[in-house]
Amino acid sequence: MDELQSRKEAALQAVAAADNIDAVESLRVEALGKQGWVSQLLKTLGQMSPEERQEQAPVIQAARTEIADAIAGRKEALESAVLEAQLVSDTLDLTLPAPEAPQGTVHPVSQVMDELAEIFADMGFAVATGPEVEDDWHNFTALNMPESHPARAMHDTFYFPDADDEGRRMLLRTHTSPVQIRSMMGQGAPIRIIAPGRVYRSDSDATHTPMFHQIEGLVIDRDIHLGHLKWTLETFLKAFFEREDIVLRLRPSYFPFTEPSVEVDVGFAIEKGRRVLGGDGDAPGHAWMELLGSGVVNRRVIESAGLDPDEWQGFAFGVGVDRLAMLKYAMDDLRAFFDGDVRWLRHYGFSPFDQPTLSAGVGARA
Ligand code: PHE
Repeated sequence: MDELQSRKEAALQAVAAADNIDAVESLRVEALGKQGWVSQLLKTLGQMSPEERQEQAPVIQAARTEIADAIAGRKEALESAVLEAQLVSDTLDLTLPAPEAPQGTVHPVSQVMDELAEIFADMGFAVATGPEVEDDWHNFTALNMPESHPARAMHDTFYFPDADDEGRRMLLRTHTSPVQIRSMMGQGAPIRIIAPGRVYRSDSDATHTPMFHQIEGLVIDRDIHLGHLKWTLETFLKAFFEREDIVLRLRPSYFPFTEPSVEVDVGFAIEKGRRVLGGDGDAPGHAWMELLGSGVVNRRVIESAGLDPDEWQGFAFGVGVDRLAMLKYAMDDLRAFFDGDVRWLRHYGFSPFDQPTLSAGVGARA
């Protein structure tokens, strides 16, 4: 029996020390295989007297179980170590290397719209929006352009082939002015809003694209006159171009929805082949550039929108956002705005962290 104990201890030690599955397997064969020493011992039970057998059998069986458990435990440990090692060496790296610097930029049109919102917010204007798929009434009729009005022909309108469910003729809005109507009808007076957004006209060359951006301004209040319009535009343009020497010239013009209507020109000089805004357009080396359309809101428009024109007056203006961006950031081909060329965007785009603020300069470049 002492011999059994010491062989068992030796076997258990050998199992514990085995460092691979094959070694454990040969230890198993050596002890528990058909010819193994434990199996041989079990066979000797048959020749024993019943008393002896009763005493020996449990001892041998216990040794067998102990060795078998140790072998199974060791096998499992070695197998999971193998799996563990495999998991470590077999890794598949699904991550991409981090880019060296942020790649995206804010488009100049978005940047300019943010700048305008910031400037006008400071003057108490809220931002309003309207649909790009507009109906004929909001885009034209309510703006004092009835069906037969010749000004309609000047807008190169994209019409939809079918009327909507209520029989309205639908189109892509040709200007942001329908937001004037929607604001007056939606919120009543007084009003102080800007409405930036996309507009569409069937026109395409270096300075015209079928889709472009406008920003509409509308103020409705009591006793509003042209002086308010002029001050507002001057204040806005000085803040936008970040120059105090912006000079405006108001020229009589015509829009069906404003009366009187004024075209606003801005003085500029040519420096190194580029137009640089600033200065009196009549001064030597200077000229005037047409910048935007505006005027006192026609009382027929105020009436169409359901307000009393004897109580409420206002002014409105509409300006091309793309054009403002081109002037401020010295870009000369409008079509490049909508090509989506990343090289152009990297060059002319803005850092998303460069939020326009009045204190830091609305056009600060990172
Ligand atoms: N809607 C006009 C245009 O697109 C611009 C404008 C707006 C003129 C508001 C006067 C008042 O040409």
